[in-house]
Amino acid sequence: MATKTLEGTAHALVASGRGILAADESHATIGRRFEPLGISNTEENRRRYRQMLLTTKGIGEFISGVILFDETIRQTADDGRPFVEALRDQGIIPGIKVDRGTKPLAGTSAEPVTEGLDGLGERLAEYKQLGARFAKWRAVIAIDDDRAPTRLALETNASALARYAALCQEAELVPIVEPEVLLDGAHSIERCFEVTETTLHTVFDALWANKVLLEGMLLKPSMVLPGAASPRPASVEAVAEATVRCLRRTVPAAVPGIVFLSGGQSDELATAHLNAMNRLPGPAPWPLSFSFARALQAAPLTAWRGDQTRVDDAQRAFLHRARCNSAARAGAYSAELERSAR
Ligand code: 13P
Repeated sequence: MATKTLEGTAHALVASGRGILAADESHATIGRRFEPLGISNTEENRRRYRQMLLTTKGIGEFISGVILFDETIRQTADDGRPFVEALRDQGIIPGIKVDRGTKPLAGTSAEPVTEGLDGLGERLAEYKQLGARFAKWRAVIAIDDDRAPTRLALETNASALARYAALCQEAELVPIVEPEVLLDGAHSIERCFEVTETTLHTVFDALWANKVLLEGMLLKPSMVLPGAASPRPASVEAVAEATVRCLRRTVPAAVPGIVFLSGGQSDELATAHLNAMNRLPGPAPWPLSFSFARALQAAPLTAWRGDQTRVDDAQRAFLHRARCNSAARAGAYSAELERSAR
């Protein structure tokens, strides 16, 4: 195993002041983002949209890596450069989403299980050729009263994540291991804590069983939050404390970094939560960074709206969100910084 390469890439992805942009939406997901803005979901619109993000001048100061979708890693910018090269020109590491989405897991009440292991070794070799240096696989854990997640759903998803991670490392790609506990539901923050703790224990047990090199991977967890429909909201500080407490109990110090997903939180709240975690006393065993899709893209997408004359505005909005999240990595995000773009 190329231990040094894997460790080097993992550390570069969590270098201080920088984080990851997830721009790896499937055709169906990007369609759901485009639809409310009246943008038609064509290959050319997807290419133009991703080009707007990936060619934003100066973005390499705040973004260390970008997760691409299969279509995007094969596309080129207007100037003829493959997107992968445009990223490298800004000092950004290209990555690739390799899971194939979720299906209802047989034997459960339709809990999600992530697919995509068949032929994965060959696909990883091709992505490596195309320039990817890291990969992502998202497992989804749903909370439903006391019924879900079931042990079966937790173990099946953890096992797939661990097999994916082992295959990635064989192919010299750093696996981002993403077990997302969904925000949907009316559950309390305590219930989210309990489910996240169980999920992470199960995932790290499977990673160990599959001989995954912890020093050569990154964890992409959700934050510990009350459900979106919970009658009991939690303060920014309470979320930060619960999340770091949960991670300290479950994530080995050997893991080089934690890169959160935003999970449907508003842009500003996701940034505020990351900031508050980085302000907690005592050094955490790992850097706490971001790998957001929606919380980095909502503002630029709304500014762009499918209109090529609005690319400058959209890129400004993207650069601003990236700058705010970069500041949050050092606990230096503030209301003034947030307002500075307005
Ligand atoms: P969100 O930040 O929108 O949750 O997406 C992150 C991601 O990559 C999901 O797999």
